[in-house]
Amino acid sequence: MKPNALLALLSDRRIHSGESLAKELGVSRTAVWKQIKRAVSEGLEVKTIRGQGYQLVSTLDLLDRDRILAALPEECRKLVALTTLSEVGSTNAEVARQLVSANGLVPIVLADAQTAGRGRRGRNWSSPRGENLYLSLGLTFRGGFEVLDGLSLVLGVAVARALQSLGADDVGLKWPNDLFARGQKFGGILVEIQGELQEGQVQVIAGIGINVHMKEAPGIDQPWTSLAGTWPGRAWVRNDLAAAIIDEVVSIVNVFESGGFEAFRAEWQARDIFFGQPLVAREGTLAGRGAGVDNTGNYQLETEAGLVSVRAGDISLRVVP
Ligand code: BTN
Repeated sequence: MKPNALLALLSDRRIHSGESLAKELGVSRTAVWKQIKRAVSEGLEVKTIRGQGYQLVSTLDLLDRDRILAALPEECRKLVALTTLSEVGSTNAEVARQLVSANGLVPIVLADAQTAGRGRRGRNWSSPRGENLYLSLGLTFRGGFEVLDGLSLVLGVAVARALQSLGADDVGLKWPNDLFARGQKFGGILVEIQGELQEGQVQVIAGIGINVHMKEAPGIDQPWTSLAGTWPGRAWVRNDLAAAIIDEVVSIVNVFESGGFEAFRAEWQARDIFFGQPLVAREGTLAGRGAGVDNTGNYQLETEAGLVSVRAGDISLRVVP
């Protein structure tokens, strides 16, 4: 039995007898009961109604490959090879495996849960089942490593655009590509460069994590939010989010390949949450005010010695006493 098949049947939130579920899934009633127990242990609320069967109480937002593909415009659909998984270590690692035999398509992997979700700078990425979006795309660029300047910022612009098209107004970006709303992080992008192939082709994995429904996350050590927490008026559906982001990333990559970061700089700048703010960088050794990005995507600080560009690492708000 596929892990999501039972939940898909229960997702209408009606009462289903153990017998009818077993019949539809082609398994024993004991197997159904075991899966229900597993779903409950993973946090779903399922009522057992004596003499009648099971009823799902929680709202479910299941990943559905067909629905994502159907929501993509035709010209994007034919460029991608989409995989949805119930669970994986990291969607980035899975895309790295698939890139080897990509055959000119963009390999894309989504998972309901990650057991070893990775964040920037070696951090973990909290990836509870069914709560958030864990999405990775394998992108190939012509022109060697130098064409990648600013790519990670451009990906932030693509995701912000996609979310805005679904009703998230006011999405901010924190350099290089954290997604912020009202001062709190709700998403991040991990860009991993795979290496140069023949004829200057470079492969890059873009891993996108968006907190969608998550209400609790004991392991996160900074203020965070989710789409549902910030924009509660909308019914956030992970399949729709995935389709909008995939479409935006695939089309932006083409423009980026020909026009570089310059074509996106103003848009990134307009979303910069640090502009004009007192900041520190380089492990606290550099202080200045946020002055936006230069034309290769480095962040600039206005310091006492003039403009200084920061290429890597974290930038954070300076606590002014
Ligand atoms: C960050 O630290 O802000 C980047 C987080 C990126 C998380 C995503 S979730 C999908 C993909 N798979 C991973 O293991 N990480 C990225």
